[in-house]
Amino acid sequence: MKKIVVLTGAGISAESGLQTFRDSDGLWEGYDVREVATPEAWQQNPQLVQDFYNMRRKDVLAAKPNAAHFALAELEKNYEVTIITQNIDDLHERAGSTNVMHLHGVITRSQSNVDSTLTYPMDGWEIKMGEVCELGSQLRAHVVWFGEDVPMIVPAARECQQADIFILVGSSLVVYPAAGLVNYVHYDVPKYIVDPSIPDISRIKNVIKIEERATTGVPELVKQLMTG
Ligand code: APR
Repeated sequence: MKKIVVLTGAGISAESGLQTFRDSDGLWEGYDVREVATPEAWQQNPQLVQDFYNMRRKDVLAAKPNAAHFALAELEKNYEVTIITQNIDDLHERAGSTNVMHLHGVITRSQSNVDSTLTYPMDGWEIKMGEVCELGSQLRAHVVWFGEDVPMIVPAARECQQADIFILVGSSLVVYPAAGLVNYVHYDVPKYIVDPSIPDISRIKNVIKIEERATTGVPELVKQLMTG
């Protein structure tokens, strides 16, 4: 079976009603991401950061996977598929994809404040101040903040090196190390990019640009890959 590696960003979930980061004046739901998505922000104003992610979790739980998420899940019928997502939503899993790597964590889990490897499933939408991990430390959202390590980048890069086909959906490719993953894909591997505003990848070879929204472009591409 051929191996397809898909890298997704906020754009794939835009049509599920979840806002992207850089399409709205650099604001994320009205906040500068650096005011809520850094260890410093958490130190200075933990309640604000906790509330912010509680609201994002509420949004994610209310959102539904769209045609692009479902189409990518279909690929598993004919291919070995790895989805590497920068998104903290769980819409790929809910659409049926079985092999999803979350580079930046997943908001439906909580995480220890002192040990990022301690993460827990959640029942509802809220983490309360005073709720603690097994070490007795405050719980926070299981998301990677600016300035924090991205431990999943190593296995993700290995996946990219092994790809026979690569697909990028809905990412501006400005946030590293995720943006650098494209460089691990072999030069002669076809690289499809689905995005209404294709990011600058002029240095990359064998790029096929599909300048469309995810819910249109991805199902069309999947149809082509399933019949071709
Ligand atoms: N379909 C496909 N792509 C879309 C759509 C759509 N309907 N709407 C917007 N896009 C594209 C935009 O053109 C842009 O290229 O999605 C991309 C979104 O880019 P960003 O907002 O920068 O999101 P992303 O690349 O995922 O951000 C990376 O930044 O803040 C951090 O940790 C956060 O994981 C995130 C990382």
